[in-house]
Amino acid sequence: MDRLSALCLDAVGALRVVFREIGDGMIPAAEPLMERVRALAHAALKDPASLLLLAPTREDDDYTFQHSVGVGVLALALAASLGHDGEQVAECGLAGFLHDIGKSRVDLCILDKPGKLSGDEVLEMQKHPEYGAEIVRGMAGVPASVVEAVLAHHVRFDRTGYPESARTLCLGVPCAVVAVADFYDATTTLRTYQRPMLRDEAVEALRRARGTVLDGSIVEGLLELTDAGV
Ligand SMILES: [Fe+2]
Repeated sequence: MDRLSALCLDAVGALRVVFREIGDGMIPAAEPLMERVRALAHAALKDPASLLLLAPTREDDDYTFQHSVGVGVLALALAASLGHDGEQVAECGLAGFLHDIGKSRVDLCILDKPGKLSGDEVLEMQKHPEYGAEIVRGMAGVPASVVEAVLAHHVRFDRTGYPESARTLCLGVPCAVVAVADFYDATTTLRTYQRPMLRDEAVEALRRARGTVLDGSIVEGLLELTDAGV
């Protein structure tokens, strides 16, 4: 196994522990995970596209965990390809890995529901960014930009989206990068209620989202990166 795969598996192992502990009602410290994400960020800076070839999850990992890993790895690659420094790349990665952690507080009946959600269920699902921010705020060693990204990853570039309270925040790079990585990973993976888009369809959807849902300059970065890496 090469060094990059080993670093990635190590980070994903640490993330698995964080997810398990949070599922058990604990609030773990972020430092063991952040240390590994920093090592991965430094490797990503040398060759961002190589991260897209990694497949560090297991078949028995649930969708939210697999999606979190997908978004974290893509956020690392994207931030590195956009030329950010090691610490900023690591913050983007950590934000990606933890962005949906608030779903651990949403009832599984809602989370795994195959059909359309009711109005109340949608409202409960839309609380996951606030639940997540509350969780990561309590984790020692999580940078403020990561808390902000967890809270605001569903606030769109045009300042609609949710939660409403986060729309007026001045949002930083990790939030914008995670929003793009989240959009791409969610459209290209199989979910209970949606078939995955083909790459061409996903690219088209990304293009349409530029300047409204997502920051156009970061979308351009992702299109260049995935052209080179996939
Ligand atoms: Fe989310």
